[in-house]
Amino acid sequence: MSGQPGEVNVLDLAPAADDFRADVIAGLSRSPRTLPCKYFYDERGSELFGKICDLPEYYITRTELALLRRYASEMSEAIGPRAELIGFGTGAGTKTRLLIEQMREPVAYLPVDISREQLLQSSAAFSRDFPALEILPVCADYLQPLVLPRPMRQPDSAVVYFPGSTIGNFEPNAARDFLKRTSNVCDALLIGVDLKKNSQIIEAAYNDSAGVTAAFNLNLLARANRELDTDFDLRRWRHRAVYNPNAGRIEMYLFSNAAQSVHVGETVFDFAADEKITTEYSYKHAPDDFVALAESAGFQFRQLWTDEQQLFGVFFFSASK
Ligand code: AVI
Repeated sequence: MSGQPGEVNVLDLAPAADDFRADVIAGLSRSPRTLPCKYFYDERGSELFGKICDLPEYYITRTELALLRRYASEMSEAIGPRAELIGFGTGAGTKTRLLIEQMREPVAYLPVDISREQLLQSSAAFSRDFPALEILPVCADYLQPLVLPRPMRQPDSAVVYFPGSTIGNFEPNAARDFLKRTSNVCDALLIGVDLKKNSQIIEAAYNDSAGVTAAFNLNLLARANRELDTDFDLRRWRHRAVYNPNAGRIEMYLFSNAAQSVHVGETVFDFAADEKITTEYSYKHAPDDFVALAESAGFQFRQLWTDEQQLFGVFFFSASK
């Protein structure tokens, strides 16, 4: 698919645009009220998320990167030679790069991402830096069933790489369904997962002192105001993230500072003072629980790499065929 190094073509399987307006009305009509977290990532939201990843309190990105720096050669050993690597939501590819550098004769890299711009940029860079590697970017929603292109050379195995603990943003049933679909289309899975730990560490990561996560959360309302006929007054909302130990998840909320009405076109939503909108869940998993979840979805546990404090885990599973 690629000609000159740095030149790549994107296979376009992007779904029809989401109906943001219908999702906002449906979510605000629900009790308790919700807004879907997939709408965080417009241009401003993605920029804010990039800043979150660099925050001192947000240990997730830093710890996962450190695990890759330290153990990428062991991970690549587990993957084996001549693999094709399928990247789900690998973004700019900082972690993937560390992995590919250590892989033995990798056959192809297939980054799958909903953001076309991100795919073009990262694929061009990978194509330049790994000229022997076939790069097959796919613009698609990896949460939906996918038929992926085949590399020119037959790989020995197909390995899905899913970093960033994005699996934590799925409800447990959705996580199982996603893992089941994945186990049907690959030979192995390398996945980054945020682990259960002292709730103060987790809450600090989602209530950072610089207020970046608050801006990220509030951007959901700002985005609605930019793209829809809504009139959220941003000064009348506040961010708060709370760890729910029973459910094992961070719950992100926007609280109404006062009794107020918000319009979405003709529809009016009345909020009481301190009423909340749930915007995101981020599940944290104990290693054994995550292994049980993946094994219930057709995977077999092979290896876990974790840091000294066991903040984060990178798990390797083979698909039991
Ligand atoms: C993308 N995802 C793994 C992040 C998380 O930690 O759940 C999203 C995020 N929300 C607030 N901060 C970061």
